[in-house]
Formats: sequence, C-alpha cells, structure tokens
Amino acid sequence: MEVVTASPQETEALAAGLAVELRPGDLVALSGELGTGKTTFVRGAARALGVAGIVSSPTFTIGHRYAAPVDVAHLDLYRISGLDPEEWGDLEPYFDGTIAFVEWPEHGGDWLPAPRAVVTLSHVDEEHRRVRIEKHDDPGL
Ligand SMILES: Nc1ncnc2c1ncn2[C@@H]1O[C@H](COP(=O)(O)OP(=O)(O)O)[C@@H](O)[C@H]1O
Ligand SMILES: [Mg+2]
Repeated sequence: MEVVTASPQETEALAAGLAVELRPGDLVALSGELGTGKTTFVRGAARALGVAGIVSSPTFTIGHRYAAPVDVAHLDLYRISGLDPEEWGDLEPYFDGTIAFVEWPEHGGDWLPAPRAVVTLSHVDEEHRRVRIEKHDDPGL
C-alpha cells in the first residue's frame, strides 16, 4: 500500500498501524533519502509497541535497544559500507527477541534477516511524504 502523509504525526500514526501486526523476530526495513521520515516512522512504531521516552536517531551509535513488552531495536546503517562477519556479530544481538527497525538496510548487504515489511519513503514537498509499505507473509522463505 502507498499513501501520502501530510505531517510527521500522520507518518507516526501510519507506523503505529503497522506496529500492531508485528511479532518478536520481525524486521522492518526503512529506505529513503535523508529527511524523508525513516526515524519519524520508527518513533511512531516504537511508541505503539510500548517504548516510553525519547526515540532518537541512532546515527552516531549504530543501534538502540529499547525495553518494551517486546524489546524494540532501532539500527541506522548509514555509516556502514558492507558488513564483515565480526561486525555482523556485533549487530546480531539487536535482532535477538526484538522487533527491529533498520534504516539504510541496503548497507547491511546479505547479513540482515529477511524483512517482515519494507517501508520506502520519499519527499513530496516540505510537509508531505510518500510512504509505501510492502508486507511479506513468510519473510524467512
Ligand atoms: N509527512 C511527514 N512525515 C515525516 N516527517 C516529516 C513529514 N513532514 C515533515 N517531516 C519532517 O521531516 C523530517 C524527517 O526526519 P527523520 O525522520 O529524521 O528522517 P530520516 O530518518 O529519513 O533521515 C523531520 O524533521 C520531520 O519533522
Ligand atoms: Mg534517520
């Protein structure tokens, strides 16, 4: 499905709608240029999943793991250019028992688990973003 949102709040609400369908072990991949709303989307989903407090961009830390009924992981691979096995070993715990959101999944190469959903965002104008959500029933297959 594809919609155009008119505010960050609308993007967060859209994300909350996806969040209720997610299960432990699921990964949501988020693609789109800087400033299209990937982190905003994750914020909306994380809140809906019970994360209290601030959900901020992990740009300078690779990842955050938030405590929630099911822990929520948020990774930003913007600064990664191809993972080696050791680097993947550092990232793997973020996917253990969590619902995980990954910005710039393209930079993770083939290491990432198959996504439950792929979210692609693009600019329409200053306040509008086109948001496409593709869901996969059996991401492992
Ligand atoms: N419809 C919208 N959806 C999401 N963000 C929006 C929208 N309109 C304006 N914005 C703004 O765009 C910026 C998106 O930033 P962010 O979520 O960090 O993007 P990214 O993680 O893709 O770099 C925020 O400043 C946000 O307020
Ligand atoms: Mg971001």
